[in-house]
Amino acid sequence: MRKTIIAGNWKMNKTKSESIAFAKDLKNKIDKIEKTDVIVCPGFVSLCSVSEILKETRANVGAQNMHWEPSGAYTGEVSAEMIESCGCQYVLVGHSERRQYFDETDDKVNNKIKRALTTCCISPILCVGETLEQREAGKTNKVIEKQIKQGLEGLSHAQMQRIIVAYEPVWAIGTGVTATPEQAQEVHGFIRKTITMIFDEQIAEKLSILYGGSVKPSNISELLHQKDIDGGLIGGASLKLDSFVEMIEIAEQLSN
Ligand code: PGA
Repeated sequence: MRKTIIAGNWKMNKTKSESIAFAKDLKNKIDKIEKTDVIVCPGFVSLCSVSEILKETRANVGAQNMHWEPSGAYTGEVSAEMIESCGCQYVLVGHSERRQYFDETDDKVNNKIKRALTTCCISPILCVGETLEQREAGKTNKVIEKQIKQGLEGLSHAQMQRIIVAYEPVWAIGTGVTATPEQAQEVHGFIRKTITMIFDEQIAEKLSILYGGSVKPSNISELLHQKDIDGGLIGGASLKLDSFVEMIEIAEQLSN
């Protein structure tokens, strides 16, 4: 059985004190959660404090980015070891905003994933997704297949067990337009098939595939009902404690 994962991507929001306040409140609200894995991805400056507050709770912390080199003269960059030293257990890689604004190519994504896997405990969350133009041109599967194949190139079966994939159609991110559960399921099923082809069925069946793109309390349940959707990567609706907790509780009820 795959675990349900509810992950919040705070993007470039919340100062350190706002992040600390959120984490303290979250801690109190999730003490009855037993089956759902919770992840929050704050900005770099808040990673250590938020990890400290959330340790020994159901929630883990993820970074939103990292560099693929272990260390060196890369001014302004943050390494896998650095985020690990702050208590991070996850890192987002290949988010569409990084692909779009920061030239994050599939090659860089692959290098980042391989670097993250040299640490003891960081699981990369590989984000993939097509633009509206690509969808309308009927290229969705081709785009996703390339992002998956190149992003995961050279990984061993053992390394794959640490990977999470998030399908986030670019046209659904921050737009209020969500993929229908059927549209999302179709791509999630395709991702699982692709993983079966590259690795094997056992790995594919174990892989958690999250959906992202305008997920909110009113639509999360129908998305989680789809057989290949194992959780959500949530931006806007994860910034407010009430809606984030509501989505965690919905996921928890569905796991029962
Ligand atoms: P959104 O963002 O929920 O605000 O659409 C999701 C994401 O970018 O991870």
